[in-house]
Amino acid sequence: MKLFNTKILGTGSYLPEKIVTNHDLAKRIDTNDEWIVERTGIKARRIADISKDEVPSGMAKEATLRALEAANLTPNDIDCILFSSTLADQAMPNAASVLQFKLGITNNCPALDVNAACSGWIYLIPMANALIQTGVYKHILVVGSEMLSSFNNWDDRNTCILFGDACGVAILGRASENEDARIYSTVLSSDSSKKDHLTLWAGGSAKKITHEVLENNEQWMTMNGQEIFKAAVKTMAAHAEKVVKESGLTMNDVDWFIPHQANLRIIEAVGTRFNFPPEKVIINVEKYANTSSATVPVAFDEAVRDGRIKRGDNVLFAAFGAGLTAGAIFFKY
Ligand SMILES: CC(C)(COP(=O)(O)OP(=O)(O)OC[C@H]1O[C@@H](n2cnc3c(N)ncnc32)[C@H](O)[C@@H]1OP(=O)(O)O)[C@@H](O)C(=O)NCCC(=O)NCCS
Repeated sequence: MKLFNTKILGTGSYLPEKIVTNHDLAKRIDTNDEWIVERTGIKARRIADISKDEVPSGMAKEATLRALEAANLTPNDIDCILFSSTLADQAMPNAASVLQFKLGITNNCPALDVNAACSGWIYLIPMANALIQTGVYKHILVVGSEMLSSFNNWDDRNTCILFGDACGVAILGRASENEDARIYSTVLSSDSSKKDHLTLWAGGSAKKITHEVLENNEQWMTMNGQEIFKAAVKTMAAHAEKVVKESGLTMNDVDWFIPHQANLRIIEAVGTRFNFPPEKVIINVEKYANTSSATVPVAFDEAVRDGRIKRGDNVLFAAFGAGLTAGAIFFKY
């Protein structure tokens, strides 16, 4: 069987217009800019406005139109939609189908939602890669679109400072014979022994939103920050090391490292473990905070568009999130 190499044909991102700074948060909760910057590197985050359709499917529409333009494709060229969101627009219909509708796609392509929290977009890349390599689909749209502001408790200073809303997408397709773009290696995992460290218990089938749930404030995300911090550094570093080793290359061959943008201290801890010079590490957490599965595709899109990442560069992605899920991808762009 002939296997195709996978190439990222185009990328796009969308950030909600509304900017909320640390100073804005300090007017509502007992915090301050210095504490947040020192502990997380975050200075601001974007917050979605539902009246502007800045919901997961609506942000994904705008990001996809940019990616289609970059890839020189039209909406009906997409033959599969894979959509990562921690909490999509609604349970039914799924966000991927809503996105298909909003893009005016009429080819009835399959449209699938996946939730692996902050690792969701990374989780979808090996799956899209397998479908491209085996020739099942030609142009797979991989979306990470997140509206964390909808389940972020704005009165809880332990969590609310960390998160924001955004969408990043990539269209994956076949590399032609004379191109060297390819995905070298991927790894995914989930350590469910730590599943209770980052949670949103209410709002699903097991616990509906009731008056009692609202009175107990169970409709919001909860987090054990220090446990997450330790696990994040450990798993991202281990996974990054694994994919580079499996590719037969070394950390010196990595041109760009794009880790999940959760906290600057986590990013620096992983980066220094591999002696990556700071200019090799793509960071935007200061502008957007943690946008869950959108962080890596947004950072990637920004670095491609501003000319830092060029065709032929070796790029390393790593992410972790609730579950605790984690993954890494090493590829030639
Ligand atoms: C959340 C996080 C920034 C907290 O940093 P930390 O150094 O562990 O801080 P601690 O939780 O020990 O809190 C230290 C003190 O600051 C206080 N504090 C917490 N949030 C604060 C805030 N926003 N502003 C001011 N003070 C705050 C705490 O109450 C605590 O005070 P105390 O010592 O009087 O009890 C850090 O643990 C982290 O980033 N973890 C990873 C979280 C993450 O990435 N989640 C997403 C995963 S996808």
